[in-house]
Amino acid sequence: MARALSGITPSGKLTLGNYLGAMKLFVKMQEMYEMYIFVSNLHSLTLEQEPLSRKKNTKDLVAFYLASGLDINKTTIFLQSDVLMHAQLGWIMQCHTYMGELARMTQFKDKSTKHSDNINVGLFTYPPLMVADILLYDPVYVPVGEDQRQHVELTRDLALRFNNKYGETFVVPELLLTKNGAKIMSLADPTKKMSKSDDAGDKGCIYLLDDAKTITKKIKSATTDSIGKVNFDEEQQPGISNLLTIYAAIEDISIKEAEELFKDYNYADFKERVAQVVVQELSALQASYHDIIKNDDVEKALNNGKEQASKIAYKKLMKVHKKIGLGI
Ligand code: AMP
Ligand code: TRP
Repeated sequence: MARALSGITPSGKLTLGNYLGAMKLFVKMQEMYEMYIFVSNLHSLTLEQEPLSRKKNTKDLVAFYLASGLDINKTTIFLQSDVLMHAQLGWIMQCHTYMGELARMTQFKDKSTKHSDNINVGLFTYPPLMVADILLYDPVYVPVGEDQRQHVELTRDLALRFNNKYGETFVVPELLLTKNGAKIMSLADPTKKMSKSDDAGDKGCIYLLDDAKTITKKIKSATTDSIGKVNFDEEQQPGISNLLTIYAAIEDISIKEAEELFKDYNYADFKERVAQVVVQELSALQASYHDIIKNDDVEKALNNGKEQASKIAYKKLMKVHKKIGLGI
């Protein structure tokens, strides 16, 4: 079975964007691929966060991986910090990455503007760590949202660069973009991504633990337009298009099908219906999350994941050491 790998950073409360853009896809993929899904907690250090909150976000993330349907018999779930090889290969990758390549990264530009009081070096060198996260496991596919495209492209460049220089070492992975859930936008400002690390975006952001009333209120007050027709047109009607994307992703239908379904709806009724499906989906997810948090499923998954992932990562790192002349 071909391998696929992805990770999510525990940088804040999880959002509907994370769930539709990432988790739902992982769950589908575990039927076809040998999946490695991790919590990129080393990446979370690039932004300020209280240790207790980092800890809670980490546990919640694993609980939501499990609640959304990841099965530890099919998917290896682990913490990045539990597998020490990530940081080590990350350093090696930094030494093969050019400043210019990192200076081009739009995520660095965005985050250093947003967090101008904490432009730490890790924020800049984060992509080579992500390269290491990926290359340690030889995945064929890396399923992520559009915002991670540049980082996966850098991974491909570095895999090729390394293979050319030292001989065949890494599989060159492919980006796998999610179809419907590719990019969920903020409900308040549909030209911006719905994001968990955006504290200002509370109104625009549906959190996975929001209650039904809050979800409904946020969707009902989502920014739309004055055109009055439910159409998918990201330029002219970004708010309506976003709601169509959300609906299609939850119901697992195409955007065309969703558009057809709602073509005669007014905005209020359309929003009502979108709110209903979101509430339904998240209520089920939350019930399962609460069950998981109560017992030791998270600990079990992580112990198992640490052991399994470490074996593979260690082998790959030793291969790299040999190729580049570390050790004697
Ligand atoms: P992040 O929350 O930025 O750490 O992202 C974790 C994963 O969720 C990545 O695969 C992202 O591409 C995906 N993701 C985050 N926010 C969204 C969003 N608004 N729409 C779609 N996917 C998202
Ligand atoms: N950078 C990703 C994000 O912020 C998380 C991540 C870290 C990741 N390492 C990865 C995703 C490796 C896929 C593969 O969303």
